[in-house]
Amino acid sequence: MIKSIVYESKCGHTLKYAEMLSKKLNIPFYSSEEVNRKLENGEKIIYLGWVCAGKIKGINKIQNRYTVICYGAVGAYPYSDKYLNELKTANHINTPLFYLRGGIDYSKLGNFSKLLVQMVGKTMKDTDEKTQIMFKQGYDFVVEENLENMIQYIQTNSSNI
Ligand SMILES: Cc1cc2nc3c(=O)[nH]c(=O)nc-3n(C[C@H](O)[C@H](O)[C@H](O)COP(=O)(O)O)c2cc1C
Repeated sequence: MIKSIVYESKCGHTLKYAEMLSKKLNIPFYSSEEVNRKLENGEKIIYLGWVCAGKIKGINKIQNRYTVICYGAVGAYPYSDKYLNELKTANHINTPLFYLRGGIDYSKLGNFSKLLVQMVGKTMKDTDEKTQIMFKQGYDFVVEENLENMIQYIQTNSSNI
């Protein structure tokens, strides 16, 4: 049985997904900092982490300690199958990974991170209007529907997990 959702969030998008998922599945959610006080080693969890330069933050800390049933990667870039596969490879993930689009909140970023994200935005070609707005002034893509595939996977496989 899945014991909890564990998350790592810098600006709050991943936290929002953790809260939504927790309500939907009726299991608690813990930050990666507090989880060690809450769960025994080896317990089954769902892990949600924000994406920083292609890496899912916090993943190393939990990968060896808990049994991760599936992962959610929360990033700002638009979804594509290619991007999902890149994330899987870069983060050494062999279990299901779901991409959950977060956003950008410039008010919560330091100057260096802000510059970095703005630079990436300028190099991104052929993006849709909302993505351009996101890189210019910030935008939040978090909606409950983005969790549908992950929830379906968990519910379909719940008798085995
Ligand atoms: C330094 C930095 C690097 C980032 N790198 C990526 C990236 O490689 N891919 C991506 O999709 N988003 C990237 N982002 C965007 C974040 O993943 C996005 O803002 C996410 O919603 C943050 O989640 P949080 O609000 O839970 O912290 C980056 C953001 C920062 C600040």
